[in-house]
Amino acid sequence: MNMQDYFSDRANGMKRSVIRELLKLTAKPGIISFAGGLPAPATFPVDYVEAAVESVIENEHATALQYGPTEGDVRLREDLAIIMRTDGIKTSPDHILITTASQQGLDLVAKIFFNPGDTCITGSPTYLGGLQAFNSYQGVSVGVELDEHGMIPEKLQETIEKLEREGRRPRFIYIIPDFQNPAGVTIPESRRKEILEIAHRGKYLIVEDTPYRQLRYSGEHQPTFQSMDPDMVLSLYTFSKIMLPGFRLGWACGPHWLVDKMVMAKQAVDLCTPPFNQAITHAMLVNGALEKGLEKTIALYSRKKDIMLECLAKEFADMPTVKWTKPEGGLFLWLTLPDGMSADDLFPKAVDENVAYVPGSAFFPNNDDHQSMRLNFSYASEEQIAEGVKRLAGVVRENR
Ligand SMILES: Cc1ncc(COP(=O)(O)O)c(C=O)c1O
Repeated sequence: MNMQDYFSDRANGMKRSVIRELLKLTAKPGIISFAGGLPAPATFPVDYVEAAVESVIENEHATALQYGPTEGDVRLREDLAIIMRTDGIKTSPDHILITTASQQGLDLVAKIFFNPGDTCITGSPTYLGGLQAFNSYQGVSVGVELDEHGMIPEKLQETIEKLEREGRRPRFIYIIPDFQNPAGVTIPESRRKEILEIAHRGKYLIVEDTPYRQLRYSGEHQPTFQSMDPDMVLSLYTFSKIMLPGFRLGWACGPHWLVDKMVMAKQAVDLCTPPFNQAITHAMLVNGALEKGLEKTIALYSRKKDIMLECLAKEFADMPTVKWTKPEGGLFLWLTLPDGMSADDLFPKAVDENVAYVPGSAFFPNNDDHQSMRLNFSYASEEQIAEGVKRLAGVVRENR
């Protein structure tokens, strides 16, 4: 008897993350990797963590080392409500759920909304971890094309109409509006309004996943979907990219009826997000770790992004059919190869030449584009960026 025969249909449909598998290949010595989505360790506010840990242990170990409420530490939720209000979102702690980072937010959304076979709308491409979370509850992601301004409203409307005609009404629309992972594009305010209008007409919930929002290096701040329609938008945030990922701390903010259901769903998963991490984070926020850290992080990533763009312009100067996005923030840009070239086929050759990226096909709900790749600019050093882009251009040149 094979015990694996007892797995549920849901478990049988689960796949390992392509990126996590690729990252194993890119662990070889000497490789320059643009593949991961890791923050630079230099941005971690180590001194603040140290001071906060000491203070929490000394002053509040009885609660910080105990179980806590599923909704999260009320002091942290109050801090977050203030942070969000400064971003134009009128909210309060009872609309906020602290999650085990935003990946858990995605998991809870999927858990709440999907019966097997139900659909949702995502960007095409979109965040792979979102596709994984939806798939693990047997949700079906239907992709809507993006351009340099993010999800295209007309394509969204067409896709919704088609799904409705087929009797497959989507459960929600999943959008990464700011410096999208993987494409690096941002939706301008006018387009956000158009998307909201479409969502409104069909009474669709928007799930706005915005881990990079505070990492803007140039251009104008765009209002969140949440600030424009708090009753129909759930927003997912995280400390992972703006402070540190190791605490696994994020938050969901949205209408009470939805946050309340997420609380119920979370109780069965982990009872509560670690109270120790929440207490430390609250102490760090009180001491200004976020604002001060963000200033430095923005300066560092902005420089790295500029270096990557300059190196791309220089190294690909003789290949005008290679294109890339020019993000105003975040951690990634998206490079498209000349027609007929496949980023999947090129990948092993790039690894042989000691440079790595993520083939774009990983990010499409239907794996239907093989011409693009995601490049991360936050992790590699400035010298590695210059050398890595040179190696990448060499591989493309040789294989065109
Ligand atoms: C769009 C998006 N959503 C969610 C996550 C998950 O982040 P975390 O669980 O660390 O908050 C990521 C991580 O890269 C992401 O890019």
